[in-house]
Amino acid sequence: MNDDTVTRTAAHLKQRLGARAPGIAVLLGSGWSPVSAEVQDAVDVPYADLEAFPTLTVGGHPGLLRAGRIGGVEVAVLAGRKHAYESGHADAMAGAIRTLAASGVQLLVQTSAAGSLDATMRPGALMLISDHLNVAQRSPLFGETGDKRFVDMSAAYDPDLRARARAAAATAGIPLHEGVYAWVMGPQFETPAEIRMLRAFGAQAVGMSTVPETIVARHAGLRVLALSMITNMAAGMEAETLSHAHTLATAAAGSERAVKLLVAAIQALGA
Ligand code: HPA
Repeated sequence: MNDDTVTRTAAHLKQRLGARAPGIAVLLGSGWSPVSAEVQDAVDVPYADLEAFPTLTVGGHPGLLRAGRIGGVEVAVLAGRKHAYESGHADAMAGAIRTLAASGVQLLVQTSAAGSLDATMRPGALMLISDHLNVAQRSPLFGETGDKRFVDMSAAYDPDLRARARAAAATAGIPLHEGVYAWVMGPQFETPAEIRMLRAFGAQAVGMSTVPETIVARHAGLRVLALSMITNMAAGMEAETLSHAHTLATAAAGSERAVKLLVAAIQALGA
């Protein structure tokens, strides 16, 4: 993804958005899609019209950027994420995130589904990501040049934004866990031995997204907040076997509370 493509895409996006100038982008993961319905005065731009955005191939979802207001705050909601496990490349969302940064977005709110490594954090629970483990050791910045690629990741998940999200959850009466998210490439789920390793490494949750996008966002100068919905206990922790269908079903069941939390968090971030 070269800089010219991003610049051109950002110019086109600005033109499509007209007077709208979202400062916050919200990237929707599994279970979080009903958030799109919360956007008022929405204008939709399909990813297909945005050159730097990925072409989505799985799940039958075409990919849609919806700009408007949630709780009075200007946002751009991105429904559709291309995962690293589809191609083996971690930079699938790089063009999209860089376009947002070039269009005036300053803050990326990420959402995802994840498995729990903490016996007390059950399916349906919501977790604020405090930090991550890049277990895959892949980077969306492979191929970048210059000193800027050596991105400081010591506060990748902005402490101030996390404090605001925590306060918003407390005010809304929504329990919010906080912990470390381990990124695995997938698409296969983990083995019980891998989960024991991740727990020993200090992870509370495991998932197949979020981390590459956080790295790109930090490289592009965006601040990041990330929320995960726990859809299952990780492999080997309980008798159940894991499946994508189960992940999606649990995510759907938990989405009402997740949407409530996200709306409250966006209001707190926009204030
Ligand atoms: N492992 C990896 N990714 C996931 C899981 C899991 O258990 N649940 C939801 N996404």
